[in-house]
Amino acid sequence: MTARRPSSARWLEEHRNDPYVAAARREGYRSRAAYKLLELDQSVMARNRGHGLVNRGDAVAELGAAPGGWTQVAVERAGREGRVVAVDLLPMEPLPGAVIVQGDFLEEAIVEQVRACFGPSGQADVVLSDMAPNMTGYKLADQGRGGLLAEAAFEFAREVLRPGGRLVVKLFQGPDFHLLVRQARAMFASVKVEKPPASRDRSAEQYLVGIGLHKSQPID
Ligand SMILES: C[S@@+](CC[C@H](N)C(=O)[O-])C[C@H]1O[C@@H](n2cnc3c(N)ncnc32)[C@H](O)[C@@H]1O
Repeated sequence: MTARRPSSARWLEEHRNDPYVAAARREGYRSRAAYKLLELDQSVMARNRGHGLVNRGDAVAELGAAPGGWTQVAVERAGREGRVVAVDLLPMEPLPGAVIVQGDFLEEAIVEQVRACFGPSGQADVVLSDMAPNMTGYKLADQGRGGLLAEAAFEFAREVLRPGGRLVVKLFQGPDFHLLVRQARAMFASVKVEKPPASRDRSAEQYLVGIGLHKSQPID
């Protein structure tokens, strides 16, 4: 089955003229995606009295991390006192300050491996998920796989986040979209669905940002 992709000429042209690609090269980020997290962080600061998504000393679980733009931002923000655990199916270049786990986050053994990185409490302050399936171009299949990844991130956040914790999950339109947003509204003090300017218009991705995990969680 051949994947339907934008023509490589169009992609190259877009890449050449993309200010975020140029900024990432200039500022040493591994991907233009770093700017999506920076923009989401700005938006959180504006509504959270200057506290961002990742703050000094935070324990951060990052899902779907390769090549590592978000990981760089998380390490910068969490500092030496923090802990950043980054997981991806793909291998990642080592990054000082981050623990890298390679594997499929849909497998329980990998979830356990990530949780074990947070010590005996197994708890984290922040869960970030930029996981995305390899797009096939078949809408229902892509929506289904995207929904599964978002649900896995959600479930993990419910298990490991400390009260007051923060969550960012990449979401695609599909049958699960509104259900996940509703669940998030019951879990967090504040929930917003955002499309940061660095996210390309033609991408169907949006990000659900939840801040202030409630102490007691609703029962499913
Ligand atoms: C958009 S990229 C992440 C870019 C990253 N945030 C950055 O700043 O460089 C999405 C990533 O999700 C990963 N991914 C997809 N399914 C996954 C799974 N089941 N387990 C772990 N990672 C997964 C892909 O391998 C891919 O690297």
